[in-house]
Amino acid sequence: SPADPFALLSEFGIVPVVEIPEARFAVPLARALAEAGLTTIEVTMRTPDALESIRQIATELPEFYVGVGTLFTPANVIDAQAAGARFGVSPGYTPLLGRTAREAGLPLIPGAATASEIMAAVEDGFDTVKFFPAELNGGAQALSALLAPLAASGLRHVMPTGGVTPDNLGDYLRIPRVIAAGGTWIAPRALIQAGEFDTIRDNAARALTQARA
Ligand code: 3PG
Repeated sequence: SPADPFALLSEFGIVPVVEIPEARFAVPLARALAEAGLTTIEVTMRTPDALESIRQIATELPEFYVGVGTLFTPANVIDAQAAGARFGVSPGYTPLLGRTAREAGLPLIPGAATASEIMAAVEDGFDTVKFFPAELNGGAQALSALLAPLAASGLRHVMPTGGVTPDNLGDYLRIPRVIAAGGTWIAPRALIQAGEFDTIRDNAARALTQARA
């Protein structure tokens, strides 16, 4: 397996987590992000058009590092990969989900909020986890405290998500093992639905600037 399948995420430092209400918004949304220089996205399986949205982004913008989020089931993994997803994110972790992703060759970032959950994912070979929901689990301070004893655990990277905003983004990104923070603040569902792609582009540009600071 490659040294770090998530190298592109650490390059950007942020991952827009999106709910795309209708597939017709997918490509305009991705283009708006790309205009800001942000060519990654996590399309959550929380809308019926998620798979079709992934398919259209993967087809129209092949350079885009498109991922799928809110994975629960083996079928989610298989379907999203077939649609063109290049990485997967889940709110939690189960050995079945992990095995499915590994066998399919889909790099997976499982959700974990406790030491036990992190250890279970690492034990099964996953060295990158999503700390979720990050703010409600104590935020950057709690994450630092959680990571301290796990220094030699095999956990390499963390992607905090859930409650990340421009106000706390910097706190997360200062933690050495945090490669990127995810969240809906860049492209909230209401802006997508309203076709406010200029605002989304500006949000993405600001977030990128902040992540690079
Ligand atoms: C996720 O799916 O990871 C979260 O819903 C994103 O959380 P946020 O809306 O607080 O950014």
